[in-house]
Amino acid sequence: MNEQLTIALSKGRIYQDTLPLLEAANIIPQEDPSKSRKLIIPTNHANVRLLIVRATDAPTYVAHGAADIGVAGKDVLMEAPSDNIYELLDLQIAKCKLMVAGSEVEKPHGHRLKIATKYIKSAQAYYAQKGEQVDLIKLYGSMEIAPLIDLADRIVDLVDTGNTLRANGLVPMEHIAEISSRLIVNQHAYKTKFNQINEIVQQFKSVIEK
Ligand code: ADP
Ligand code: PRP
Ligand code: MG
Repeated sequence: MNEQLTIALSKGRIYQDTLPLLEAANIIPQEDPSKSRKLIIPTNHANVRLLIVRATDAPTYVAHGAADIGVAGKDVLMEAPSDNIYELLDLQIAKCKLMVAGSEVEKPHGHRLKIATKYIKSAQAYYAQKGEQVDLIKLYGSMEIAPLIDLADRIVDLVDTGNTLRANGLVPMEHIAEISSRLIVNQHAYKTKFNQINEIVQQFKSVIEK
């Protein structure tokens, strides 16, 4: 008897890049979240459903067991508590880099560096390891604006093609971490629904790009 299995995903790049993996595990969503406003999406299996959540919320759903498994970026996982979660697989999707960026020519400043970021924990750890005291300013998006209007000297943000930095006259400065999305699993569900979850893990593994 297969139990109900709930999978937390965010729409956009994570959903798009997870689709082929789900397909390999013979899980076919019955609606497209980019077209539908539905947030709980049934699949071809009556007992398997997808929850469409904010990317930063996926670990919360999985930690609380509201979803059994989920997909989350390493950047998000580094900011979230890891209690009750196993990070089982590097899915090698939504790849990018966590970087420090700023203006090519920086204005001289007589204060501690001001860093605007959504990634407070990662930025704190990075500058602590460098032994550099900085002031962190929490933003939730469009970080690239901050150095342009003197809210901050630099930003810590994700960089992929570099197009967003270039379009805003910024340059990448320091590499902090390689980022990709991970399959996360609720620790209790991994015990009670082991066969079901392990089957998915094995199917995902067979198609993950090396
Ligand atoms: P959000 O609305 O939270 O920004 P995204 O779909 O943009 O959600 O990002 C989800 C995950 O995809 C991020 O946590 C990160 O791991 C990865 N990601 C974000 N931006 C990029 C990008 N430009 N290129 C590749 N991967 C990215
Ligand atoms: C992400 C990230 C950067 C950009 C980097 O933003 O926050 O701004 O991608 O990618 P690039 O180097 O290829 O330009 P996203 O497109 O997800 O926009 P949003 O999170 O602000 O909605
Ligand atoms: Mg984004």
